[in-house]
Amino acid sequence: MTTLTDAVVLVTGANGGLGTAFVQQALDRGAAKVYATARSPRTWDDERIVPLVLDVTDQASVDAAARAAADVTIVVNNAGIGGSAPLLETSVDDVERVFATNVFGALRVAKAFAPSLAGGALVDVHSVLSWIALAGGYSASKAAFWSITNSLRLELAPQGTQVVGAHLGYTDTGMTADLDVDKADPADIVAAIYDALEAGEHEVLADQISRDVRAGLSAPLAALYPALATA
Ligand SMILES: NC(=O)c1ccc[n+]([C@@H]2O[C@H](COP(=O)([O-])OP(=O)(O)OC[C@H]3O[C@@H](n4cnc5c(N)ncnc54)[C@H](OP(=O)(O)O)[C@@H]3O)[C@@H](O)[C@H]2O)c1
Repeated sequence: MTTLTDAVVLVTGANGGLGTAFVQQALDRGAAKVYATARSPRTWDDERIVPLVLDVTDQASVDAAARAAADVTIVVNNAGIGGSAPLLETSVDDVERVFATNVFGALRVAKAFAPSLAGGALVDVHSVLSWIALAGGYSASKAAFWSITNSLRLELAPQGTQVVGAHLGYTDTGMTADLDVDKADPADIVAAIYDALEAGEHEVLADQISRDVRAGLSAPLAALYPALATA
């Protein structure tokens, strides 16, 4: 169990929809300081928020942020990019670009901050698409990230770091701005994730679609992928 009260939190991708909610709700729950990191940090109207440059694809940038924010107790690995074209219609270079941010970037952040997180927590923002491969390279990246989180949870347990893997479906942020679908409110998703963190959970299924898909993983594949039944 990790409390946000008096915590020092670092959020990657803090300028984005979920990232900004992670920053604001950490403060609402009593965090002492929040490092709001981004490739190009914005200004914030709160002295408890410290803007910090952090490009997750750049090892030097991650290392510099880890040195500048050595007092961090909770890291939210939130930064990510989309890229859901079918695998046969996109280049391997484009898939690698998605992995560079969503997989290797998140791993780079976790490794750099791990020594600071003894007795603290790492929150990794996956997706329901970690479990259902409807979005090409993006799904693959979130599946890989999910697996990395599961490994890190075991590796960080001896130093008392809680590792929370978060799964969520469509949420109303810049990433989904072009999609005409029902979307969750980022504030609700972040509240569910922080509730799980503070309850000591390993994993959070932040919405109904994530709960449904997770529950369906033990069924035959054609149940999860109806297109297979008619193929
Ligand atoms: N929205 C959804 O429906 C949904 C569903 C499931 C999971 N997620 C996940 O939720 C997380 C947050 O996404 P969001 O929905 O809030 O989308 P968003 O508004 O596009 O925010 C993504 C953030 O990631 C940052 N970012 C991208 N590449 C980066 C890099 N190399 N270094 C540092 N920051 C980088 C972006 O920064 P810039 O401003 O510099 O581009 C942006 O602030 C992502 O991991 C996403 O995959 C979202």
